[in-house]
Amino acid sequence: MKIFYQKNKLESFNTEERKKNRTIGLVPTMGALHEGHISLVKKALLENDSVVVSIFVNPTQFDKKDDLEKYPRHLDEDVTLLKNVSENIVVFAPTVDEIYGNNIKSETYQFEGLDKVMEGEFRAGHFDGVGTIVELLLRTVDPDKAYFGEKDFQQLQIIRKMVEIKKLPYTIIGCPIEREPNGLAMSSRNERLSPTTRDKASFIYQTLKTAKSKFGTESAKEIVQWVETEFEKHPIFDLEYFEIADEDTLTPILRIRDNQKYRAFIAVYADSVRLIDNLRLN
Ligand code: PAF
Repeated sequence: MKIFYQKNKLESFNTEERKKNRTIGLVPTMGALHEGHISLVKKALLENDSVVVSIFVNPTQFDKKDDLEKYPRHLDEDVTLLKNVSENIVVFAPTVDEIYGNNIKSETYQFEGLDKVMEGEFRAGHFDGVGTIVELLLRTVDPDKAYFGEKDFQQLQIIRKMVEIKKLPYTIIGCPIEREPNGLAMSSRNERLSPTTRDKASFIYQTLKTAKSKFGTESAKEIVQWVETEFEKHPIFDLEYFEIADEDTLTPILRIRDNQKYRAFIAVYADSVRLIDNLRLN
């Protein structure tokens, strides 16, 4: 398995692949890989000749210094995990300096309001940081397809918007959320939870599922109120937001319309770790 730390080395590899008419898939990650990432990698391997997995904890998408510092990093374990999946994977693991030089700044994007709600409301500058790194990775790897998990559904829609606005010739593929046996959405952050909290965090998915069962018979406002009351009864979780929103525009709904797709979105703090999840409602 090949590992590149420098952009130009990766670009030379890609040029050789292109000469051989081989297709390239990109799976951007911040490392601390889990089964959710592996499901993206496996899908990418099925659909492309070569797969580049980038591992880079992107500083510009963190609004809190503490969160950036505590973000789990274990490149050696990640590489071993990927080797066991396929030797046909290329890892791109640049340093912050290689990506940003001495200018650790984001570009400013106009995401047509997609970045103003939910994660965007609570994490200032987050999506400009995501847009900046994903655009750079796409332009560097020049893949046929790039794969992103639906756990970060808002991020997925914003990346689609960025690709549209910038007229980039890449196909963005969204992949379903992988869950731990108790239903907790897989996330690199889960490893920062205590075993008890990790077990109890099944409550987040349970709540989403009950919200889904109420959708159609109760109004969005009633469901939001019900979720807020449920969380008040479980003080080990601190609910940041629960929203029911249109999948395309991400705007919270006032009225259910025919032929529109809706999702419930949630962000919760547990053991000071921020967890997000979402579930398609119809
Ligand atoms: O979803 C993530 O892990 C990150 O936001 C991404 C897409 C790799 C960009 O840093």
